[in-house]
Amino acid sequence: MSEHRRNDRFSSFGFIMSAIGSAVGLGNMWKFPYVTGTYGGAAFFLLFMVCLLLVGLPVLLAELAVGRGGRGNAASSLTKISGNKGWGALGFLSVAGSFFIMSFYGVVAGWTLHYALLSFTGKLFRTSDYTGLFSNFMNSLTPIGWQLVVMLVTALVLIRGVSEGIERFNKFIIPALVVLLLLLAFHALSLEGAMEGVSFFLKPDFSKLTAESALVALGQAFFSMSLGMGTMVTYGAYVQKSQSLGAATLSVGVGNALYALLAGLIIFPTIFVFGIAPTEGPGLIFVALPAAFSAMPWGAFFGGLFFVLLAFAAITSAVSILEVPVAYASERFGWNRPTTVVTVSLLCFIAGVPSALSLGIGSSVLELGGKSLFDWIDFVCSNIVLPVSGLVITLFAGYAWKGAAAEAGLTAFWIKIWLFMLRFVAPLLVLLVLLYYAGVIRI
Ligand code: TRP
Repeated sequence: MSEHRRNDRFSSFGFIMSAIGSAVGLGNMWKFPYVTGTYGGAAFFLLFMVCLLLVGLPVLLAELAVGRGGRGNAASSLTKISGNKGWGALGFLSVAGSFFIMSFYGVVAGWTLHYALLSFTGKLFRTSDYTGLFSNFMNSLTPIGWQLVVMLVTALVLIRGVSEGIERFNKFIIPALVVLLLLLAFHALSLEGAMEGVSFFLKPDFSKLTAESALVALGQAFFSMSLGMGTMVTYGAYVQKSQSLGAATLSVGVGNALYALLAGLIIFPTIFVFGIAPTEGPGLIFVALPAAFSAMPWGAFFGGLFFVLLAFAAITSAVSILEVPVAYASERFGWNRPTTVVTVSLLCFIAGVPSALSLGIGSSVLELGGKSLFDWIDFVCSNIVLPVSGLVITLFAGYAWKGAAAEAGLTAFWIKIWLFMLRFVAPLLVLLVLLYYAGVIRI
């Protein structure tokens, strides 16, 4: 079995699709619009692009190189390259982080499936109280049912392995998403008054920027590129030696940025046309968008399409997040793939149930200091584990691993730039974010 797994590799195109599939997810379509709305619109978007370029791309290349160089999981790759168990222990942090990210990511992915069904069946439009609808949904057991569906689909993809499962699924879904997104963007831009939304999203007003915006932009760049949780290390281990990691990094970076751009071009025109504030917060797409869709001709169709698209984008990401603990457990315990996938998915489903309940029925118990368990897990994973693990990778590839440049395979000119970013720019910026979220610095 382990022999089989060792030779189960991505094709070149399949890898690019899978890595884009990992990157494009709830981060682009659910988180990105509301943080952009909250932290300054177009100026924030520009900052996000700069973070992608200066930190996202170099760290992505580092993760891929570590994975392919070590050919292990997100923890053992570091040990195999360095011969030092301490690095592997640091890498384990990202394995645990992925498990917990997946526990609540599956919950949110489930919401999108529920909303897709509500929209297609027209039930979504029988009310105009979308805040009430969302909170009734949260206060039922239905989210757990949908979370189970998400975990099942994710497990079904993973159980078939890398080339037959992950790659095949992504090669089909990712091109389909482009078509759906273009259709929705085209439609949103054709709405009367759409340009106000476009200019909020694309015409920067730097007076709206704060120092906090910059840190949020960097965190968002990490989350959106699936960095700092071992995802890209794990996928990197399945990349063939002949593939150019530099070219792959560029394709994934550009692909992910384009998806974010398209998502913004759908969401901002839509909410501006219907007079909704873009600073609505996490409920933005579940509360504001249904209101917009309900007032739109063909709203049930476009709304349904939007939420289905979101669900699939989320599942291609879920697949990559869950593969991190799956790869770890199968190597560590010597289990075969089906056993590992079933065990890890089941445990992750169970771990997610309290998060799901903490936003509804269990909200009075499952909270601490006014923050729900769901928010706590998101906060600790996204704002602490993620930058710490990101820091570990940059320091490892930048300082500890002498063969990093050879594995990355760039030209001498680009190697210099890459190493400079990895050694100085990325760690410094990540450290800044970390200290900010840890409350050590206040701006
Ligand atoms: N990038 C995905 C999104 O935008 C989510 C994701 C996948 C992720 N793997 C990750 C986030 C690893 C952080 C770390 O939705």
